[in-house]
Amino acid sequence: MTEKDRFARDVLHGLNATPKTLPTKYIYDARGSELFEQIMHLPEYYLTRTEHQIFENYREAMLQHAPARHFNLVELGAGNGQKTKLLLEHLLATDRSFTYYPIDISQSAIDQLAGNLQAELPDLEVEGLVMDYFDGLTWLNQRTHRPNLVLFLGSNIGNFTPGFQHQFLENLWFSLQHNDQLLIGMDLKKPYRIINKAYDDAQGITREFTLNLLHRINAVLEADFDTGSFSFYSCYNPLVGANQAFIYSIRQQEVRIGALQRSFHFEAFEPILVEQSFKFSLPEIEQLAHRTGFQIEDHFMDDRSLFVDSLWLCHKPE
Ligand code: AVJ
Repeated sequence: MTEKDRFARDVLHGLNATPKTLPTKYIYDARGSELFEQIMHLPEYYLTRTEHQIFENYREAMLQHAPARHFNLVELGAGNGQKTKLLLEHLLATDRSFTYYPIDISQSAIDQLAGNLQAELPDLEVEGLVMDYFDGLTWLNQRTHRPNLVLFLGSNIGNFTPGFQHQFLENLWFSLQHNDQLLIGMDLKKPYRIINKAYDDAQGITREFTLNLLHRINAVLEADFDTGSFSFYSCYNPLVGANQAFIYSIRQQEVRIGALQRSFHFEAFEPILVEQSFKFSLPEIEQLAHRTGFQIEDHFMDDRSLFVDSLWLCHKPE
């Protein structure tokens, strides 16, 4: 199946559901990724800045139980690597022996990241893997037999539904060895107002980021979404524990998607759920870790308790 086929199939599945949904991950084409870069610098979007502060303050403590012998520092979905650079610099300065393996399904993301890091940190051993996360980990363990420290940062896990968070961590546990470590970034529960602002910024970048999905469907799947007659709505839902971002139709209309050879009907004010960003409490994080076979070693938080980087140990005693 080609990438376009998968995209078409996922859009069909989402628009046939009640309520309608669209898959979050497809927001990130070149334009979407550029807009996400802008989001990370917004004054309202506290997540990236806060996690960066946590890394600045605690990188030494985070790495104090890192393996003594040569290990794999594996990053799932590496992004632009700014936070990771703080860890890499520290590891290089303390003479630890490791290879950095960023894993991402996007060749261009890996090329860019590995190229930048190699230029900035010439002593770094880096090997980018253009693979699915679990294929990457399996490939690595068959090849190296080294201990792993896995990074999954930025509250990327927050975009998964609770059932899929659980499944994802179970799969990760299965791919890891006894005493491997996972450093996982999660956004914490907090006053709703702070979350609402972070996901509906004054400049409208998040609106543009979300609506980019319609532009992409138009361009790639030969659709005729009239983007002017769809609007953006975002709010934290405390019953669900997630910020929910919607695109909604402001009038009754039909939209044709050429690649699917069919049209879809939208009622006036009918919502499409496009993204959920789950927020966690510490007890929820502990429960998730224990249920999926991990032990919590430490929680690293900012002084306002907005965000946590939680260090987990993969437990396989037998
Ligand atoms: C990339 C999943 C961390 O949910 O906070 C930012 C994506 N969406 N603004 C998040 C996002 C709207 C982001 N993550």
